Amino acid sequence: GNNHLNAKLVLLGDMGAGKSSLVLRFVKGQFLEFQESTIGAAFFSQTLAVNDATVKLEIWDTAGQERYHSLAPMYYRGAAAAIIVYDITNMDSFERAKKWVLELQKQGNPNMVTALAGNKADLEDKRKVTAEEAGAYADENGLFFMETSAKTAANVNDIFYEIAKRLPHF
Ligand code: GTP
Ligand code: MG
Repeated sequence: GNNHLNAKLVLLGDMGAGKSSLVLRFVKGQFLEFQESTIGAAFFSQTLAVNDATVKLEIWDTAGQERYHSLAPMYYRGAAAAIIVYDITNMDSFERAKKWVLELQKQGNPNMVTALAGNKADLEDKRKVTAEEAGAYADENGLFFMETSAKTAANVNDIFYEIAKRLPHF
C-alpha cells in the first residue's frame, strides 16, 4: 500500500566530523573512540516507523577526505535527504559544511530534505562554533539544525527521525 517508503539519505562533511559515528550509533547503537576513517563510502539501512508508515532509509556514509570529493555526486544524486555534518570543536569543519550546502544547492535534488548536524556536542569545553551561529546559517539556507553527539547518543535518533518525517508523502 501507500504506507511504506524507501528513501536514499547521504551523509556529507569534513573528515573526522563524525559521519560514520552518527550512522553507527543510529544503526547499531555503538560508538568507537577510534573509528576508522571511511574509504570511498559505506552503506547501511535502517527502517523507522513514522506515524502510520514505515520508512526504510538507505544510508550512504561518504568519506570526508578531500581525495574522495569527486565521488560525492554519485551518492547525493537521487538522494531524498542529506545530513551535512560538522564538528562543533572545529571551525574549519563548519566552513567545509557550508561548501557542501552550496554544492547541494547547485547540483543536488532541489527537493532534498537537508539537515545540518553540529556533532561532538559532548565536547562543550572545546567548542568553537556556537549553536546561535550555526542555527542562523541553517535558517537562512532552509536546513534544519541540530547539535548531536554520537558519543552520548544525544539527538542522534532524533535527527534521522526528523528527516523521515519531512520526506514528501508524509
Ligand atoms: P571520515 O570517514 O574520515 O570522513 O570521518 P567521519 O566523519 O566518518 O568521522 P568518524 O565517525 O570516523 O569520527 C572521527 C573521530 O571522532 C573518531 O575518533 C570518533 O570516535 C570521534 N567522534 C565522532 N563523533 C563523536 C562525538 O559525538 N563526540 C566525541 N567526543 N567524539 C566523536
Ligand atoms: Mg567515516
